[in-house]
This record gives sequence, structure tokens and C-alpha cells, in this order.
Amino acid sequence: MKLFLSGATGLVGRSILPILKKNHPERAIVALVRRESQASALNAQGVETVIGDLKQPRLGLSESAYADLRGSVTEILHSAASVEFDLPLEESREINVGGAQRMLELARSCPRLRKFGHVSTTYVNGFREGVYDEAPMAPGQQFCNAYQQSKFEAECLVEQAMRALPAAIYRVPALLADSEDGVVSQWGYIHHLFRMLPVTELPVMPGDPDIPVDLMPADWVAAALAHIFDFRFTSGSYRHLCLGPDGTMPLQEFISHACGIIESHPTYPAGKSVRVPKMVSVAEYDEFVKNCPDRVQRFSAAMVGRHVRLMGTRQVYLNTKTRADLEDSGLRFPVLRKFLEKTLVYCLDNSWGRQAAS
Ligand SMILES: NC(=O)c1ccc[n+]([C@@H]2O[C@H](COP(=O)([O-])OP(=O)(O)OC[C@H]3O[C@@H](n4cnc5c(N)ncnc54)[C@H](OP(=O)(O)O)[C@@H]3O)[C@@H](O)[C@H]2O)c1
Repeated sequence: MKLFLSGATGLVGRSILPILKKNHPERAIVALVRRESQASALNAQGVETVIGDLKQPRLGLSESAYADLRGSVTEILHSAASVEFDLPLEESREINVGGAQRMLELARSCPRLRKFGHVSTTYVNGFREGVYDEAPMAPGQQFCNAYQQSKFEAECLVEQAMRALPAAIYRVPALLADSEDGVVSQWGYIHHLFRMLPVTELPVMPGDPDIPVDLMPADWVAAALAHIFDFRFTSGSYRHLCLGPDGTMPLQEFISHACGIIESHPTYPAGKSVRVPKMVSVAEYDEFVKNCPDRVQRFSAAMVGRHVRLMGTRQVYLNTKTRADLEDSGLRFPVLRKFLEKTLVYCLDNSWGRQAAS
């Protein structure tokens, strides 16, 4: 058995690698990395590496390295991507769509291939309201950013490839922390939003108090993904590695809980309450941005609106099949309330990444 893994140095990849090794100790793992230093670190952990780039033809590999993979690879797990929201669409496409295309090209040329796993996101649906099953996503949605659009387009490629390849798609929601104990190593937009919550002067935000908030820690996603890929792989399947309707929290309750955690942290002025902007519909928010007289506030409101309009968009991701696949895994679904608390305390203790970085 030989597994070819992309994204091994990323948030999900770092967590999944030891689990994949434990699941099948006899299986060789070859990771696609971009730098020599990453290769050395992985080699020291017993992982083979090839240095390349998703953006290059033949994944940037030499003819002989590529031919070696073609002859020996039995499984491919494609986790690498650009998760940046603000890249121009063409740049996102180059990595996320072009990368998927090149990983599929390799897959098609591997005669011994038994499975191809593609890591995607629940946000491929853009901001279209609905209840979504673990199934192909229909086109026609509007996207918040180039990341969502490029990940949707990548899914379409994998979906087409499913006709001839044993492939599966694993959708992941936003990752709030590395682990259930709240440690954060990758500071992203979501942490920035929490940081802004107690200081924003915006009077309104797009939000529906009842929409379900579905976030996960990376270690749980990695463990679930590894279990399903290794022991429950089903060709042509889709899985939602999210909390699902049984584990989400309504937005209003989620924000109140977050405010309570911030207010009780020693860095927050004693006795002061966090002022939360009033939640309004996406249409009302857009109207506010359009008519906002202050140029700076208008710019900041537009930026907020671009990324958080999902908080005003009712979407439910079902995970019945994922739950069934995980029944014998011993893995318990995280409790959002608890890991939100641990994560926020970690963020506040570490000055939202500034302390962790220094
Ligand atoms: N993070 C989230 O909140 C989240 C949410 C939903 C879904 N997902 C999905 O989960 C998967 C893993 O994401 P992640 O959080 O682990 O992302 P990440 O921490 O940003 O890691 C991205 C990985 O992709 C690699 N990569 C990027 N561009 C590459 C290129 N041109 N060639 C080769 N490798 C390249 C990176 O390598 P370097 O180390 O060299 O940069 C890194 O290993 C992605 O498919 C993502 O769409 C993530």
C-alpha cells in the first residue's frame, strides 16, 4: 500500500498524518511538499516526500519521480489548497482547481489506485439557503469569495472523475482551533472576527439569531477523515465532517456565550459588557453599507459583510452518513460550547496570536 498525500504540512495534514500512520503501519506514505526543510522534517518522521507544486504541470515533479508514483500509488488523499479568502479568483483557481485537476490526472494514470479522497468545504454552497445532504452540490449559488468558488469548481472536477475513478469528497466546516483543547496555531478570519467583537463600532451586522453555527477543531476533523478514508471508504460518496443539526448552536446563543467568555477574561475591563451589533438581514445590512456616511466605517462594514454574510444565511449541513461511518470509531463529536470557551480563552491569553507569534 502506498498513500500519496498533499497538504501534509497544513492544519489538517499535520493532524492527520500520525493517524494515517497508526491506522496502517505497513503503508508507505509519500507527501507532496514545496520546500526542502519540510521534506527533511517529514522524512525524520518516517514519511517519504517529493518536492513539487500543485500549480505546475506533473505537480512540478521530475519525470522519474512522477513515474515512480504512477507505478506504486494505491491511494491518494488531496488536502492541499489555498484557504485564503482574498486571493484573486484566478490565483485561487490555479491552486485549488488546477491542483485538483493535476491530482486527478495522476490518479487516472495509477493502475493500482483504489481510492482518491478530496478534502473540500461545506462553504462550496456559497450563500444559498437550504438544508444540504451529503450529496453533489447544485450549481447556481453566489459565492462570498474566490476560495469558496474555487473549491466548488474543484468539487465539480472530482464529481466528473467519479464516473471512472474510486473517489470521495469530504466537506469540512471552518476550523476554529487545532484541537478540542482550544489551541490555535493558524490565525484566520474567524479569530479576527472574535477579536473585533468587543471593539467594533458597527451598529449592525448581518445575522439571523436562529441560524445554526457549525464549527470544528482540526484534530477531530483529521481523526474522522482518517477513519472514514481508511475504514469506510465508499466510492462516489460525500461526507460532511461537521457537527450537523444535533451539535450546532443558534447564532444568538453562540454570540452570547462568546461575549460571556470575553467579559469574564482578566484582560477585559471588569463590569463592562460587550456591545454586540444588532443583527439584521443580509438585505438590510447591504442597505446600511450603501448608505453609511462615514467612508472608513463603510469600508470596514463592507469587508465584514463580504465574509460574514453567511451569518445571515440559513444553511444546515446534514451528516447522517458521516455519523453512521463513525459509529465504531470511538470518536465523540465535540461539544461546541466547550471548545468555543477553550478556544476563546486561548485566544485572549495569547493576545489573538500576537503573543503566540513572538
Ligand atoms: N482551515 C479551515 O478552516 C478549512 C475549512 C474547511 C475546509 N478546509 C479544507 O481543508 C483542506 C486542508 O486545509 P488546511 O486548513 O490544512 O490548510 P492550510 O493549513 O492552509 O494548509 C494548506 C496545505 O496545502 C499546501 N499547499 C498550498 N499550496 C500548495 C501548492 N501550490 N502546492 C503544494 N502544496 C500546497 C500547503 O503547503 P505549504 O506548507 O507549503 O504552504 C499546506 O500543506 C483544504 O482542502 C481546505 O480547503 C479547511
